[in-house]
Amino acid sequence: MKAIRCKEFGPPSSLVLEEMPGLKPGANEVLVAVKACGINFPDTLIIQGLYQFKPELPFTPGSDIAGVIKEVGDDVGHLKVGDEVFGFVFSGGFAEEVVVPSNTCFLKSKKMNFPTAASFMVAYGTSYHALKDRAKLSEGETLLVLGASGGVGLAAVELGKLMGAKVIAAASSEDKLQLCREYGADLTINYSKEDLKSEIKKLTGKKGVDVIYDPVGGEYSEAAFRAIAWEGRFLVVGFASGTIPKLPMNLPLLKTGSVVGVFWGDFAMRNPKQNMENTATLMKWFDKGMLKPHIHKTYELKYTSRALEEMMNRKVRGKLVLEV
Ligand SMILES: NC(=O)c1ccc[n+]([C@@H]2O[C@H](COP(=O)([O-])OP(=O)(O)OC[C@H]3O[C@@H](n4cnc5c(N)ncnc54)[C@H](OP(=O)(O)O)[C@@H]3O)[C@@H](O)[C@H]2O)c1
Repeated sequence: MKAIRCKEFGPPSSLVLEEMPGLKPGANEVLVAVKACGINFPDTLIIQGLYQFKPELPFTPGSDIAGVIKEVGDDVGHLKVGDEVFGFVFSGGFAEEVVVPSNTCFLKSKKMNFPTAASFMVAYGTSYHALKDRAKLSEGETLLVLGASGGVGLAAVELGKLMGAKVIAAASSEDKLQLCREYGADLTINYSKEDLKSEIKKLTGKKGVDVIYDPVGGEYSEAAFRAIAWEGRFLVVGFASGTIPKLPMNLPLLKTGSVVGVFWGDFAMRNPKQNMENTATLMKWFDKGMLKPHIHKTYELKYTSRALEEMMNRKVRGKLVLEV
């Protein structure tokens, strides 16, 4: 089987497509013939050795897989050969075959094609876990989403609306904000042109926002926190800007605000039951037509480097997907 291999940490151009021996699933795993694999920002960090964890070299990147089960481990009960599935792996997805833990592998809806299924798990799983389990977002609250047209950001916009919040989308260009409006954003801020803190205050009548969803970091985090509402929750999701911000600790005190960490991948492994329940809810909403993952572009496996560069150059709206 063919796989994209990271043999040394470096830019996307250092990845190679190679022939590999076939894989075998363990007792609680399934072997999946990959049809599509979503690209997420962490993929761009893992290959450079810049992510929270560093896989041992060489490795195959890719987490967000969809495909058909080829083989089932001895202790797996709920899945069988031939099932069309999607799932999450820490690595191994940019390949023709991948071994997936059975508790992060789910039956694909008949209404979902493979690229859509491969763009679903990380984006919606992260954003739903963040808004529901971590921020406890409730109906009528105001939600600010930074990097709102990106993979997890756009899912947060869509889910925030579905959960009854008033959503303010913030992004760096008008075409990105237009997509956010199409996905339900009530109000928008172009933070490359407008001052984030004063715009939030203007749009919320000085009250500030109840929940801030931040996958970007850098200069926007503190500016947004300075416009958080009383008892607001600031979700630390990621640092796509490349800078991990520092926050003066008087700010949470002054607003009785909370800084709340989100690490969906670890949550899914530590709390598989809760993650399965969240996924079931998301699938139900998808089947009812309430969620519509936006695929910016699909690439063949051999163009993985090009796709990763496009994401790093901030050119993507919604999701990029590799078709295998
Ligand atoms: N905590 C978790 O469990 C979890 C799970 C998945 C992803 N994440 C993190 O969430 C972040 C977003 O992931 P994603 O897959 O949604 O990425 P994405 O689709 O590339 O979106 C990231 C957004 O960040 C903004 N951005 C600002 N500065 C940027 C820069 N220098 N380079 C690239 N983008 C920049 C861009 O929007 P504008 O141009 O509009 O600013 C872009 O749309 C990443 O840091 C990722 O590691 C965290």
